[in-house]
Amino acid sequence: MKYILILGATSDIGKAIAKVYAQHGYHLILTARDTNHLLSLKKELEDQYMIAIQLESFDVLQTITHQSFFDNLKTKPYGVVYCIGYLGNQELAQKESTEANLILQTNYTASIPILSILAQYLESLKQGFIIGISSVAGDRGRGSNYFYGSAKAGFTAFLSGLRARLAKNNVHVLTVKPGFVYTKMTAHLSLPQLLTIAPTALAHSIFKAQQKKKNVIYVKWFWRYIMWIIKLIPEFIFKKLNL
Ligand SMILES: NC(=O)c1ccc[n+]([C@@H]2O[C@H](COP(=O)([O-])OP(=O)(O)OC[C@H]3O[C@@H](n4cnc5c(N)ncnc54)[C@H](OP(=O)(O)O)[C@@H]3O)[C@@H](O)[C@H]2O)c1
Repeated sequence: MKYILILGATSDIGKAIAKVYAQHGYHLILTARDTNHLLSLKKELEDQYMIAIQLESFDVLQTITHQSFFDNLKTKPYGVVYCIGYLGNQELAQKESTEANLILQTNYTASIPILSILAQYLESLKQGFIIGISSVAGDRGRGSNYFYGSAKAGFTAFLSGLRARLAKNNVHVLTVKPGFVYTKMTAHLSLPQLLTIAPTALAHSIFKAQQKKKNVIYVKWFWRYIMWIIKLIPEFIFKKLNL
């Protein structure tokens, strides 16, 4: 059976995706900065689904280590899911470049070396897939969230180009644009119930979309139309809104 590499497997979305792939019999390589945080998930999934799980330590900001991280993987993956993310503090980022850089690097620029290494490997195999968890926030920069939003916009564009390149060699790239999801990242926000999804439901949608080789999905589906409307708002009105 094939191995799926989940980068950022301690994220609530990453954990839910790990469970869904385990249910379907895939073996897993799970990463976190501190792999101790993955021990209970590993035990739970191994006991329940009779699959093999490897734990690897990975800090996306240490881009110098990306090649050795890949070289040292005992088993190379057939599929990759990039779940790493950092919402950050917009107001702090406006004042301090350290926070701004952390948001931009974690959500976008630091993902590029590792995804490029994995893309090259899968391209040589002529099979496999890469899933990137981007966000609807990348569809239009909003005054309240544009550091995170612009990083996700860059990540979405990167995945789009990667998809076009890798398609020629039978490697599929899926871009996932969730709206609101109940996770640690959003625990401090009061989210509208109708627009918000649980990580498990998102994970099932992602698995289905990957199996069907979809290119870009919005979850829940109506976010496509919400963002379509938001993108249509003229700048002279948009800049007066408190979004
Ligand atoms: N929640 C939402 O509403 C929502 C909506 C749209 C998109 N998303 C995206 O979905 C993805 C997962 O989000 P989530 O809500 O499940 O997040 P989460 O529970 O807050 O988890 C964040 C993840 O990012 C990892 N991470 C942060 N900095 C890292 C670094 N320097 N190196 C390696 N890993 C690092 C964390 O790993 P450690 O355990 O090592 O800290 C953790 O696995 C993110 O890309 C997020 O932007 C979320």
